Amino acid sequence: MADSSRIPGFYKDPLATRRERLAAARPLLPETVDHLACGGGLDPAVADRMSENVVGCHGLPLSIGLNFLVNGRDLLVPMAVEEPSVVAAASNAARMVRTSGGFFGEATAPIMTAQIQLDEVPDPASAAARVAARTADILAAGDAAIPSMIARGGGCRDVEARALEDGLVVVHVYVDVGDAMGANVVDAVAEGAAAVIQAAVGGRIGLRILSNLPVRRMVRVRAHVPDDAIGGAELAAGIARASRFAELDVYRAATHNKGVMNGIDAVALALGQDWRALEAGAHSFAALSGRYRPLATWRRMAGGVDGVLEMPLAAATAGGSTRAHAGVRAAFDVLGVASARELAVVMGAVGLASNLAALRALAGEGIQRGHMKLHERKRQP
Ligand code: MEV
Repeated sequence: MADSSRIPGFYKDPLATRRERLAAARPLLPETVDHLACGGGLDPAVADRMSENVVGCHGLPLSIGLNFLVNGRDLLVPMAVEEPSVVAAASNAARMVRTSGGFFGEATAPIMTAQIQLDEVPDPASAAARVAARTADILAAGDAAIPSMIARGGGCRDVEARALEDGLVVVHVYVDVGDAMGANVVDAVAEGAAAVIQAAVGGRIGLRILSNLPVRRMVRVRAHVPDDAIGGAELAAGIARASRFAELDVYRAATHNKGVMNGIDAVALALGQDWRALEAGAHSFAALSGRYRPLATWRRMAGGVDGVLEMPLAAATAGGSTRAHAGVRAAFDVLGVASARELAVVMGAVGLASNLAALRALAGEGIQRGHMKLHERKRQP
């Protein structure tokens, strides 16, 4: 844990000085320091094992989001993103939020959803009751498919069935995947439990795969920003009005949520997360009520604004590329989170910060001025 995530003047330092100041702010592993010193990136031999038809590596800047105080911990947040201003904006917003104690949040247990499709089910209306009656057998069949997850304390927790149209029934098996993203575990459960489910409801087995809308793996983060930190009561009121706009208009909500995901995706990329899965979960959750809604909202309160972000977030600190990629290992060393749940809260905080920064700029001078100043840097050789 960093003593402080405030490193004044960091953005003005030369790159080598930033690395030194990062190492001074947080005790880093020698391999992290070495990795950053040689410019970061990915060893082509590792890349060759990670994907197919590899001919090289694709680079992105690795930056540090500053000023993040999350549940009382000061954190230096690795962010990888090609768009100028995302890191600066999130860091500025985090600085405003820390004046009132920082971000506060919690993540639910890491419960992912396995889906099993059954077609031509003879009596779909009674399927839910028949599945419920076989719950113990279904959970046992799912658990039998994931022995190493069971050994790590995870496993199948619950079953639910819904009748759709055309004789189609879908069964959800809810699986605790611990600190993993869990896709392989959940797919194994879906395949392992399908025969018992079919025995319960009849019909023909269809797809057996995770859902990327993990509604039982949620994160909720809140923040309060006083008027003074925002730059005055008028800007604070403007942020609340901008939030309302996103609640009332899907075209605005799409852009609003893109701003939320600017921060979340940047952390996801730096930490080797499945950002496609995060995006799928975020936008399908935003539309879950039947109307596409903002993932984060802000309300005018006495003397400031209160923000809340709520969304599914399948973050992982184990499995996937979290161990194979030296840059990802270095990024985890910099961040220093102990669990996937903790990581989900940090990512939610960065999403809320990115959203606050965007709304503050839009409610004030507009986005162009700050954006263009930072875009200018790209033109320099
Ligand atoms: C740009 O990458 C993101 C914003 O458009 C988000 C928003 O409008 O809320 C600035």
